[in-house]
Amino acid sequence: MEKEMYWSRFAEDFEARNTYVVGDKDLQVLKNYLAGQKNLGQTLELGCGNGTYSKILAKKAGKFMATDFSEEMVLTSRFRLADHKNICVSRENCLDLSFGKSSFDTLVMINLLHVISHPEKALAEAMRVLKPGGRIVIASFTTQGMGFFSKAGMIYRYLRTYGRPPGSGRTLTLEAARDMIETAGFRLEDSRLIGNRCKIIFMVALAEG
Ligand SMILES: C[S@@+](CC[C@H](N)C(=O)[O-])C[C@H]1O[C@@H](n2cnc3c(N)ncnc32)[C@H](O)[C@@H]1O
Repeated sequence: MEKEMYWSRFAEDFEARNTYVVGDKDLQVLKNYLAGQKNLGQTLELGCGNGTYSKILAKKAGKFMATDFSEEMVLTSRFRLADHKNICVSRENCLDLSFGKSSFDTLVMINLLHVISHPEKALAEAMRVLKPGGRIVIASFTTQGMGFFSKAGMIYRYLRTYGRPPGSGRTLTLEAARDMIETAGFRLEDSRLIGNRCKIIFMVALAEG
């Protein structure tokens, strides 16, 4: 699978690569927003990568399932998160989850919605596995709202670090993300662009069912 191979190559040092591309300060902005989430309950993270954000979110959760479809990402996360007793790491394709209906209180997607080919399918799966009234937390880097030089610099650092992304490499905008979430049946509680030089779409919504 082309996309799986693409991400797997970066499993070992994914957090360091992202820090180079985006910068410490904007990553910290995202981490602060995630740390501000409360009472997550039973939580499922899709596309967890090498677990950068799992450890922050798991502090606010009951049982925390961190999942990714890349075997290498799963193995690296399992190693990096071994000390966090409420975290379990497993392999899942966000487009076809193995969990039953209404299994989770909260579902998290960080930097996933803009890299998958069928985001609407992932959101339909999210709605299925969330309990009625459950919460979805989404964050995705975007070039929307970035200044010309910041954008050019970030694209240069991205290509230098990761090469060309598979698929369309489209830019997700806040408006398009809101539309997707509402079309999938979620009610938006919060949606905004955060970050300084680099921008991040940040959204919290409830599963209306
Ligand atoms: C841009 S990385 C983000 C990783 C992590 N959430 C972060 O922000 O550091 C995207 C991740 O999604 C995973 N991924 C891509 N398509 C997926 C799918 N269909 N199901 C599950 N994970 C997927 C990749 O393996 C990769 O680890």
